[in-house]
Amino acid sequence: MNEHHQHIIIAIDGPAGSGKSTTARLVAKNLGFIYVDTGAMYRAVTLSWLEKGRPKIEEFIQELPSITLGINSQTNEQQTFLNGIDVSREIRSREVTENVSYISSLKPVREKMVEMQRNIGNAQSVVMDGRDIGTAVFPNAHLKVFMIADIHERAFRRLQEMKIQSIFPLPKLEDLIETMKQRDEYDSSREIDPLKQAEDAVLLDTSNLTIEDQAQKIIELAKSIHIN
Ligand code: CDP
Repeated sequence: MNEHHQHIIIAIDGPAGSGKSTTARLVAKNLGFIYVDTGAMYRAVTLSWLEKGRPKIEEFIQELPSITLGINSQTNEQQTFLNGIDVSREIRSREVTENVSYISSLKPVREKMVEMQRNIGNAQSVVMDGRDIGTAVFPNAHLKVFMIADIHERAFRRLQEMKIQSIFPLPKLEDLIETMKQRDEYDSSREIDPLKQAEDAVLLDTSNLTIEDQAQKIIELAKSIHIN
């Protein structure tokens, strides 16, 4: 893989809390690729709608906010900027999570975000995670992985993540399971680019895998990529 100069695109899709972002981050680090969390971009657009006081959608889409991504030089984590302001923390709030599926189902929002994602992936090797990367953003990605896990496991992991990130108050596990199910349902049934496994994606059930194991599996798959 390394002797080629063409850049590589690894698409990781799947439902909420299936471990995409943690795994994708590790894979990117190991391969020396950029990691792109596309969910953060949709979250930032949602935050902007909330900050504007939930205006009418027809009004909101007339002038979509400017979203840019950066990399924190100390932590190497993706930073998400809304109109130039770092909102990496704010986009994880419960209010954003509750509204993001709706905002990301809007055509003008998706068009703008997908264009940005393609520009990033066309410029360098990336590991990109989301819902529609392998189906819509990069249908020709070199490697596509669709990550799934048992809903209880996903909710439990998300709760641990929220604790670490100090996102309080923590929801009850049962409530989290319910809201994750609803979001998956909404994301899977929307008209434009729904959450769906690409026909040529490798299905990875992470219910009984550690983060290291699942990252290792994807790294091995990546190492066997052949470029024409
Ligand atoms: O991290 P989590 O699984 O909670 O979700 P996320 O990756 O931050 O994505 C938040 C939401 O953005 C999803 O529920 C989708 O509604 C939307 N999204 C999307 O429509 N397309 C993507 N490529 C990524 C996220």
